[in-house]
Amino acid sequence: MQDMQIETARLRLRLLQAADVAPLSELWADPKVTRYMGGPRDPAQVRQTLQEELASGHIETFDLWPVIEKATGQVVGHCGLLEKEVAGRDEIELVYVLHPSVWGQGYATEIASALRDDALERLGLTRLISLIDPENTASERVARKVGLRLERETVRPGGKRMRVYVLEAEGVRIVDLGPKEDAVIEQAARLLVEGFKVHWPDAWPDMTMARDEVRASLGPDRISRVAVDGDGQVLGWVGAIREYDGHAWELHPLVVHPEHQRQGIGRRLVLDLERQVAARGAVTLYLGTDDEDHMTSLSGVDLYPDVAAHIAAIENRRGHPYEFYQKLGFVIVGVIPDANGPGKPDILMAKRVC
Ligand SMILES: CC(C)(COP(=O)(O)OP(=O)(O)OC[C@H]1O[C@@H](n2cnc3c(N)ncnc32)[C@H](O)[C@@H]1OP(=O)(O)O)[C@@H](O)C(=O)NCCC(=O)NCCS
Repeated sequence: MQDMQIETARLRLRLLQAADVAPLSELWADPKVTRYMGGPRDPAQVRQTLQEELASGHIETFDLWPVIEKATGQVVGHCGLLEKEVAGRDEIELVYVLHPSVWGQGYATEIASALRDDALERLGLTRLISLIDPENTASERVARKVGLRLERETVRPGGKRMRVYVLEAEGVRIVDLGPKEDAVIEQAARLLVEGFKVHWPDAWPDMTMARDEVRASLGPDRISRVAVDGDGQVLGWVGAIREYDGHAWELHPLVVHPEHQRQGIGRRLVLDLERQVAARGAVTLYLGTDDEDHMTSLSGVDLYPDVAAHIAAIENRRGHPYEFYQKLGFVIVGVIPDANGPGKPDILMAKRVC
């Protein structure tokens, strides 16, 4: 991996240099950093290993690399992909280790997302894992935000119980929907009708309205992306509309084929869309998700006067998708009471994407 270099808005991951050895060996000796990663390492030993790596000039495909904070030029982390055997299976682990001085700024999510993209797109991997101590809730949050889901627990050699988070690509590709692809447009329209008919029957009741919606998504200041399987079948569709001078884009709409829901396709479509809007300079991705069918505790009640208190106490009663978005790092930023008639609100959610 001669050209290993990943750049995000605030960070740069690059090959090891001599000046990185001291800060990295300090990082691995820090008890806070290594609390859930097997405890502090002997700095002399880490130094030696890194110096040997430098001297050999050999560059591994799977390794940890220094992460530099662009604003300061400081080494703030050691992140990358490592080969690991887990319960008899060869896995590639996504590893993110950051200095406590930069915790709480979203750096782990930023660099882990970039490493995930690199792994899936450039290296063509179809499965990534992360081994997480069950007490390490901050790391679990990062794993979920970058699209990994809890698969199971495992016991590591030595007896430590760890959670196995995974991301699987499974041959599904996400591509632009083009204006000439009539068959794909037809499939996307059918998804809208099928996907929304149970809980939002008025959204796209027939194919004519659904086709119009899909065609509108191909216009200027729009993004329209489909998840397609190896046979060209459309399994999901996501669109977005440029708003607020491009600072914020609205996700609209999102649907996954009913037979392929809960397989990670919705997650991949949204993560892909986040990259698409971030690449166009956006800061925020937001959406409105209606509750017309008593799916949450916000439906069927008068939300005034303390609307915020209702939001704070929201409960998911019948699988409303707001929870899906929460799992991807979106937060509820508001609600429009009675947006679809009395007691039928629109729940507003947003996520920072840069
Ligand atoms: C909402 C929707 C897009 C989710 O897509 P999906 O492919 O089923 O979702 P994923 O498999 O990627 O799920 C990601 C995570 O969210 C969870 N999730 C998915 N739908 C959920 C729901 N309705 N309620 C709670 N959690 C949900 C999954 O269990 C998974 O959790 P995990 O990380 O703990 O495993 C899909 O169910 C759909 O098309 N629904 C009908 C249309 C719709 O509601 N669109 C959104 C309107 S704003």
